[in-house]
Amino acid sequence: MDRLTKEQLISDVKENNDIVAVVSEYVNLKQRGRSFTGLCPFHSEKTPSFTVSREKQLFHCFGCGAGGDVITFIMRIENLTFGAALRFLAERAGIQLPAFQLSPTGRKHREERERLYRLNAFAAAFYQKILWQTKTGEKAVAYLEARGITRATAEKFGLGYAPPQWTALVGLFRKKGIALTEAEKAGLVCGGGDGFYDRFRDRLLFPITNPRGQIIGFGGRLLGDGQPKYLNSPETLVYQKGRSLYGLAEAREGIRRRGQVIVVEGYMDVLQAHQQGIDEVVASSGTALTPEQVRLLKRYSDRVLIAYDADAAGQAATIRGLDLLAAAGVQVRVVRLPVGEDPDSLLRKEGAAGFRRYIAESVDLFTFKLEFILAKEDVTTPAGKARAVQRVFSLLTQVKDGILRETYLKQTAAVVGVSETTIYDQWRIHLYNLRKNKQRLDIKHNQRHTNGIAPAAQQPPAVLAGEKELLLLERQLLRGCLQEKDYFARIKRTLIEVKFSDPHYDALRHQLVAGDFSGAWPPPAGAFPPETRALYLELLAENEMNPLPVDVEGCLKRLRQRQLTDEIRRLQQEVAVSLDGEAEGVSPSKLQENLALLNELHKKLREEFPTFSGLI
Ligand code: UTP
Ligand code: MN
Repeated sequence: MDRLTKEQLISDVKENNDIVAVVSEYVNLKQRGRSFTGLCPFHSEKTPSFTVSREKQLFHCFGCGAGGDVITFIMRIENLTFGAALRFLAERAGIQLPAFQLSPTGRKHREERERLYRLNAFAAAFYQKILWQTKTGEKAVAYLEARGITRATAEKFGLGYAPPQWTALVGLFRKKGIALTEAEKAGLVCGGGDGFYDRFRDRLLFPITNPRGQIIGFGGRLLGDGQPKYLNSPETLVYQKGRSLYGLAEAREGIRRRGQVIVVEGYMDVLQAHQQGIDEVVASSGTALTPEQVRLLKRYSDRVLIAYDADAAGQAATIRGLDLLAAAGVQVRVVRLPVGEDPDSLLRKEGAAGFRRYIAESVDLFTFKLEFILAKEDVTTPAGKARAVQRVFSLLTQVKDGILRETYLKQTAAVVGVSETTIYDQWRIHLYNLRKNKQRLDIKHNQRHTNGIAPAAQQPPAVLAGEKELLLLERQLLRGCLQEKDYFARIKRTLIEVKFSDPHYDALRHQLVAGDFSGAWPPPAGAFPPETRALYLELLAENEMNPLPVDVEGCLKRLRQRQLTDEIRRLQQEVAVSLDGEAEGVSPSKLQENLALLNELHKKLREEFPTFSGLI
């Protein structure tokens, strides 16, 4: 047989992977004349400037300048080398790769992954058999019935039952001559040595799949009370908690058809929803949305509705997840469920039509936050009204769209019970005060950073904006630490090692982590020296105005990411200048050193933020 040359392979791969189809798996594309447009996956934007041409088989983003062919696209979006992207696409098109085209480690990994899928599928079939065809399974069948899940639904999602014995699956693997060390890598058995035993026992099992429907892990529910209620697979080569969405393979079609995706919390919510014909539903499985899940959701739809139970919806981490979605350019709406209900219980009480009514009454993210604030104030008293209005204002400054802002102002007036004229007057006063404050801060800021010599206008605006974001993050972090002692305790260890860019903020950070505060939280202002006391009081006042809980872990992560990317940008600039040959006297060894450092930083960034693609 002829050896396939690399050039032949490349053109084969390109011919069999239409760029529009490939990109559509990541970006929601709409046809505009002869080309397709969507939101760029490589930078954050709210209006589409990402274009794909079927004719030319090329993509280009007018916003960030990214562009290329289908292979370039996969290299960037999947973070692969050229060879790996080529293999990825060959696999996608079902092109048999000559073995020599696979790198040894690539081949090993692929085989390993496929082995895990096969083991999971094998186990799932076993658990299904126990559920439907044995006496042992009867109580699980009864449990499903009691929870109103039909056999058809249970089969559609591949549910099974793990028997109570410690070695049911282990025994079967032994009989079939399947290596238990492999089963352990799949998270199906634990122990090791001679002591292997089944991970899942006496639990109803929900296979978790990737978007292609391959089983990557399991969630197992106790049939009665007890802890933990759900036991999930451990992290494996193919399953990482927080990277998958339960039910996505089953919901793909529904999501496309309805142009939206509904995110719920639990496995049972997904089953009940699909059973009742609400088929655009997936579950985040009990955690706040992660950046990876945000990316996955955005791949399938630009409209996401969150249907969490009332308690979970108001939590800081949840809101942070929703902010992530919004920042990714996704339209976010929050479904407000009655207190004490989740989609499963609500669907059982009120049926699909009832549930759709709640969907229809979902609110946008801002309105949701607005109501959260207003619920915390007693707006029947004048003082309560005033406080509520001030709190809403500090939220409203983030809304850039004038029409939207007017709508929210009207909404606030109605809820608080003041006239619209009064609200507008107050808003103007608020803006005036803000501007005055900002001028004061800018002057202080410039004095601090440039000894008062360079006026603000001489600084490049992009850098200034970046710096402001950094300051904002540092400020948010401090503010969050003061909200609850627990927030502070959770990040204290990391906070010891992070340095803030602003000397005042950094001083306060240092005093907080070094201090010994045993009494009430936040500590009395007297505990801080005069240099930071004013800032400290300012932050307390801000917390009064804006009681939405700060997601401190999220802020810390973003701060770390910013610090890394800022350093990379700075170095890149330096390297670019020396490569241009403009900077005389840059020694080759210095350049080498910078390049090595740059590599190091890129590696760190990839390790700490594997899905980050913001560096252009
Ligand atoms: P919930 O505690 O809200 O349970 O957890 P649920 O989905 O309503 O389950 P039922 O109705 O009591 O059966 C929501 C989701 O959080 C994850 C699961 O994915 C669950 O579906 N979870 C919860 C766990 O992973 N482990 C747990 O111990 C609890
Ligand atoms: Mn439930």
